[in-house]
This record gives sequence, C-alpha cells and structure tokens, in this order.
Amino acid sequence: MKQILFASSEAIPYIKTGGLADVVGSLPKYIQNDEYEVRIILPKYACMDEKFLSELNYVCHFYVDLNWRKQYAGIFETTHEGVKYYFVDNEYYFAGPNPYNNIHEDVEKFAFFSKAVLSALPYLDYSPGIIHCHDWQTGLIPVFLHTSYGSDVFYSGIKTIFSIHNLKFQGRWKIREVMDVTGLPEYIFDHRGIESYGEANLLKGGCVYADAITTVSPTYASEILTQEGGEGLEGVFSMRKADLHGILNGLDYQLYNPKTDPYIYEPFTVESAIEGKKKNKTALQKEFGLPEREDVFVLGIVSRMTDQKGFDLIAYIMDELLNSMDVQLIVLGTGEIRYEHMFHYFQNAYPQKVGSYIGYSEERAHHIYAGADAFLMPSLFEPCGLSQMMSMRYGTLPIVRETGGLRDTVIAYNEYNHTGTGFSFTEYNALDFLHVIQYANEVYEKQRPHWDDMVKRAMEVDYSWDASAEEYRKIYDGLLDVED
Ligand code: ADP
Ligand code: GLC
Repeated sequence: MKQILFASSEAIPYIKTGGLADVVGSLPKYIQNDEYEVRIILPKYACMDEKFLSELNYVCHFYVDLNWRKQYAGIFETTHEGVKYYFVDNEYYFAGPNPYNNIHEDVEKFAFFSKAVLSALPYLDYSPGIIHCHDWQTGLIPVFLHTSYGSDVFYSGIKTIFSIHNLKFQGRWKIREVMDVTGLPEYIFDHRGIESYGEANLLKGGCVYADAITTVSPTYASEILTQEGGEGLEGVFSMRKADLHGILNGLDYQLYNPKTDPYIYEPFTVESAIEGKKKNKTALQKEFGLPEREDVFVLGIVSRMTDQKGFDLIAYIMDELLNSMDVQLIVLGTGEIRYEHMFHYFQNAYPQKVGSYIGYSEERAHHIYAGADAFLMPSLFEPCGLSQMMSMRYGTLPIVRETGGLRDTVIAYNEYNHTGTGFSFTEYNALDFLHVIQYANEVYEKQRPHWDDMVKRAMEVDYSWDASAEEYRKIYDGLLDVED
C-alpha cells in the first residue's frame, strides 16, 4: 500500500476558514483506492467544535526540539469517512478563538506544527512515501526534512509535495526570529533557501525543498510564473517549472449534491431544477427578509470579504446596480470591516433589494447556492475557487472575472450557438463587471428558455474529484518510482 500523509492547517469537517479546508477534507477520499492510503495531520485547535474534540483518541506524546526550546506535542487520532486523521496537541500554540492569529505568532506556531509532524512519524510507526504539504503553514516540512532529518534513515525515503492554494499568503517574518524559533542552520536563510526580499519566507522554503510543487488550477500555474501573478516569487517558480503542476480542484459530490443536500429547502435534480430552484429561491428571499418574488433576478455572494474577491468592484457598482435594475442581492460573508459595513449600509438603504448575513454559516451558504439565479465572483485573482463550482452544481450561474481557476471552470454564454455555463469579463474594471451583470439579467428576462438550458448545462458539468485525484496519483507514482 502506498502511503500519503496530508499536512494542513485546516480540513473539513474539523476546522475551516476557506477552500483549503474543503480540498484537504475531501481529496483524500478520492485518492484512496486499492493502492493508496491517505492520512491527514492537523493541529488540534481549542476552537474546534466540542463534538469533534470529544471524539479524538490520545495516541502518544513526545517533545519537539525547536532550537533551545523543547515543546510538548501530543498526538490524537480519529477516523472520518474512511480516512485516518491525526491531530497535534499543544495547548500553548493551538489555543484561542481562531486557527490563525497574527503572522508573528503564526510563524512560530506552524514551525512547531511542521516539526511535530515529522517528529511524530517514528512514534506512530508510520513511514509515508510522500508528505503532501498545503500552503505556507506547512512550508517548513520539506525544509526540516532536508536539514534536521537529512541523516536519519527513518526519513530517508520520504518525498514531499508542496501545494499552493494561495500565493498571497507566504508566511514571511524576520530572519533572525525565524532562525531563533526553528533552529535551522544559517545556510538555509540565503537566497537559494528560504530567504526572500530580506525576510524568511516559509512558502518559498516549501517550494525550494519539495520534490514537486502543485497549484490548484492550470491557469493559476501559468499566472504565478509571471511578474503580475508571481507575488515576487516568479523567479523561484520559473526555476522549478519542470516540477510545477496545475491541477484543478474538485468538489465533494457527496456533500454538494442538490438531490440529497439536507440543508436545502427543496432538493432537486437536473430534470426538476427549474421548478426546484423556484422553491429554494422564495425560501431564500424569506430567510433574508426580502419580498418573495419568483420573477426578480436574484444575485448571490458567499465569500471571504477581501480585495482578492473583488469587493472593491462590488462597492463601486452597488448604487447603480440597485438603482438601475430589478434585482435582489443576497450576501453571506465575513472579512474586512469596511465591506461588512458596506453591506449593512446598503441593506438599510435598499431593504427591498439587499439581504445580508455577516458571519459564517454552512447552512446559509447552501441556501444561496441553491436559491439564487446568479452568483457573483469578480475576483482580482483566484487560484481555483470552489464557490463558482458549487453554484454551478446547484444551477446558479456564475458571473466571474476570467482569472485563475475561474477561467478554467466557467465557460461564458455564447448567444449565437447557445453554449456556456455562466458569464465572464476580462479586465479588472467595475463597469465591465456591471455590464456583464446587466447582460446576464437581460438573458434571464428575455431569453428564459436559453437561461434554463444553461442552468441544466452548468449542473451537468463534472466538477467531481475523480479526474484530478487521478492526476495527483500520477505525480505520486512519479515520485515513488524514483525510489524503486
Ligand atoms: P477561498 O478559499 O479563497 O475563500 P473558495 O471559493 O476556494 O475561496 O472556497 C471558499 C469556501 O468557503 C467555500 O466552501 C464557501 O462556500 C465557503 N465560505 C466562504 N465564506 C463563507 C461564509 N461566510 N459562510 C459559509 N461558508 C463560506
Ligand atoms: C485558496 C484560494 C481558492 C482555492 C482554495 C482551495 O483559498 O483562494 O481560490 O479554491 O484555496 O484550493
């Protein structure tokens, strides 16, 4: 059996702040087969739901060497949907109401986590062929493997893959302090190692020392090679181009299934979508305190409220959108205060047209995916994006900017040959965004049969993990073969 260990700072159902959790919590199920077993290791955060914390079983504990410190690490385990999960326990690092704090604390916290992951393996009598690391929080795993464990035979056959879910977050901090908390040798902190623009950069460490690098869509894989999309690391990616792969994320089709979704008001299939969606739409309007009208064009947003997601474009067009069109806008999200306030303001100013919930709610998210007509995602950049795929799965047509994974997943409507699964615009420009919403509204109003066909087409596209899981297995096989 080939053994793969996923190391991540989040995974559903245990802890989630964004799409990383969806991916890490669903992909292993689809990679596992007769040949592969995947396990997952996460921090044991105090902020996890009590129902999850109480089901974890203690396995062992040991001490992690972090330079002059020795820190306690406990390992707990559980099994969820056929996948084994390990949790690293340390009440000092993983306390608090959120998985992430400020960058200073997080760099030390995840340096500890990364070293604890490696230190745990002999105690667990578990030697995975590959450790698959996700985002900067696990960037030091390939670095420690190369340095602190380089001469230990237990670790000598282990390969690493580093997956980039979002290059915006790199885990950058002062070299002196990262040296102090990691105890890594000085040569690691030069420009061939984890140094970048005068700072230590944990994501760069992962990218330099891992055996292969992946990112979450083919378009993002090519964007990060450019100055515009490389966030300063395009040189590193160019050097490692031969080992860089863009593999599109998938969805967990068991969780996101309009036919069986326990959250939604009226389950539906492709055949019953047009009627089923109407019922979900009026239930959604009621939930958000808006007039229950089947005929109005309902736009949905489910998102972290940050500049990445194009909220400045949304801010720019709000008045005109709401004044010029018969629409309702339903928003679910949290993030930057200025955007949270913006939706409060517009909800007060246009109570018949705007409904918002500032907060996190899995249930409300599903209600929006199922009940809206169109879904707004005008991202500035988007490594992959899962929300647009979720909305398509529920027949809600995405209106997106053509960037990263949005470009790879949404095919723009072509009114001449009636193809497409949504709407898109190219430049990061508010008026282009407004025009494409107006155009979508026009298709909705005046070409309803074509709109309805597009709803069904979007639902029928296969966004499951099957094809991408196979691509990951190919990369694993390539790395494991080197060992044979
Ligand atoms: P990102 O990871 O950049 O935030 P993705 O589109 O990949 O973007 O994934 C976002 C995930 O987080 C989706 O599962 C989406 O439904 C979920 N999500 C975002 N905001 C909220 C919220 N306020 N409440 C519930 N789910 C949310
Ligand atoms: C990141 C990206 C998002 C991607 C997700 C899962 O949060 O912003 O585009 O879908 O990771 O890979």
